[in-house]
Amino acid sequence: MADSKAPARVAWTTRSAFILAATGSAVGLGNIWKFPYMAGANGGGAFVAVYLLCIIMVGLPIMTAEVMLGRRGGMSPISSMRKLARDSGVSSRWAWVGGLGALSGFLLLTFYTVIGGWVLFYIAKMASGSLQGATTVEAQQALSDLLGNPWMVLAGHTLFMVMTLWVVGRGIHKGIERSARVLMPILFVLLIVLFGYAMTSPGFGEAVRFLFSFDFSKISGSSVIAAVGHSFFTLSIGLGAIMAYGAYMPRETINPRTGKRTPVSIGSTVLLVGVLDTVVALVAGLVIFPVVFAHGLAPGEGPGLLFVTLPVALSDVLGGMWVGTAFFVLVLCAAWTSSISIAEPPVAWLTEKGISRPKASLMVGAAAWVVGLGTVFSFNLGSGYTLFGMNFFELLDFVSVNIMLPLGGFLIAIFAGWVLKETHARKELNMKSFGIYMVWRAMVRIFSPLALVLLVVFSLWKALAGEPVAAPEPELAPAIEQPALEQPEGEELPPPDVPAVDSVGELLPESE
Ligand code: PHE
Repeated sequence: MADSKAPARVAWTTRSAFILAATGSAVGLGNIWKFPYMAGANGGGAFVAVYLLCIIMVGLPIMTAEVMLGRRGGMSPISSMRKLARDSGVSSRWAWVGGLGALSGFLLLTFYTVIGGWVLFYIAKMASGSLQGATTVEAQQALSDLLGNPWMVLAGHTLFMVMTLWVVGRGIHKGIERSARVLMPILFVLLIVLFGYAMTSPGFGEAVRFLFSFDFSKISGSSVIAAVGHSFFTLSIGLGAIMAYGAYMPRETINPRTGKRTPVSIGSTVLLVGVLDTVVALVAGLVIFPVVFAHGLAPGEGPGLLFVTLPVALSDVLGGMWVGTAFFVLVLCAAWTSSISIAEPPVAWLTEKGISRPKASLMVGAAAWVVGLGTVFSFNLGSGYTLFGMNFFELLDFVSVNIMLPLGGFLIAIFAGWVLKETHARKELNMKSFGIYMVWRAMVRIFSPLALVLLVVFSLWKALAGEPVAAPEPELAPAIEQPALEQPEGEELPPPDVPAVDSVGELLPESE
């Protein structure tokens, strides 16, 4: 009986493969680009403290639930949820939770690849030295030139989409697992090298103080909400990506030499992934802020921190061109392994319908590419088209990240805590400590759902009140209207009618 629930068809070759793939999913644009910027905009240490609390109290319990449901179901999130609902004697409509997740994943994919495309251009820009010696205004102009040119953004989007679906199409072992084994070590090595570089920077002490001095007076309602939302996004939970990866997680590993069987614990594996994800975010902050502070720039600079400030900050540093190139290669590794995981749930579902994996990847990629055109044009040709004051990209971002992910997480918590038979959950988690199991259970039954309801209500209320939403609002967009801050006198301003400046500038009404 238990065997009939064993992970279907394929499984990661080792436990470490799951850890690498799941960490690859979690560590993405959210950590390296968004976290530092959000910490900068939301009061530094105060935001970091709340974010850490959210990871522990909401993120990790739900991530544990997702992996548990995935491994128990052994199929794509949609089919796993249907099967588990039947096993628990409830309506198989719970499969819709998987469907909602696949849809959110699909929507995320449509704009994640657009930003991934920018990263590709920035690797080339840094490596070619074209940003060497650039002033803030020039770096802003370089970004608005890129975004204002639909063909360039389209080319980046297309290339990144092909890269993503090519890996997914090659399958779990040859595609996803192999890419994680190659890209994650590169990411970690680059991060360590850059961290070493940052430590020697004069702004390092200030960066540490900024990120770790927990001044609780700076905590506001909106920064709490921002932290909750971000903890979801950064851990890749709420859409089934981690659930899909969990389906390939073996229950035990067998040592080929000794034949010894070791159970694979979900709790400790999730904890490790969560810790790695958090450490990468904090280290990314410690890499970025020293350069920011050393140049007297504003930490609340906004989403342009990565695409504008960093090139400027590095432009006059010895070897800055190479540090910058390394940095964007790092961002690429992170973004690539994440987008792969975002695409996996819908592809896995299509393969269960009898479609071959390469064909399923092609279908998902082509559809996401078409919808992604909306985001591509949000920064240029279509920047004037808005709904509820948001352009296509902002709307998509708002709906998927602020509403669909938390909703998915909420339903997953409810299902794992209230619907799934308790004995099934306990058996699948197989936790050594009953106390920890009970804590997890209390979290998914009560605390996490409550926190999520508050998040969704607050986001909607803010949106309806016409206020920009605090959390992922400036999500993936660069601040290119920002600082005249250190602009030398008499320097030329960019022409006022550069379309991208207008469209992106609207994303940042609140940047401090
Ligand atoms: N966690 C990824 C990041 O931080 C984004 C992501 C969200 C990936 C949801 C998969 C699922 O960028």
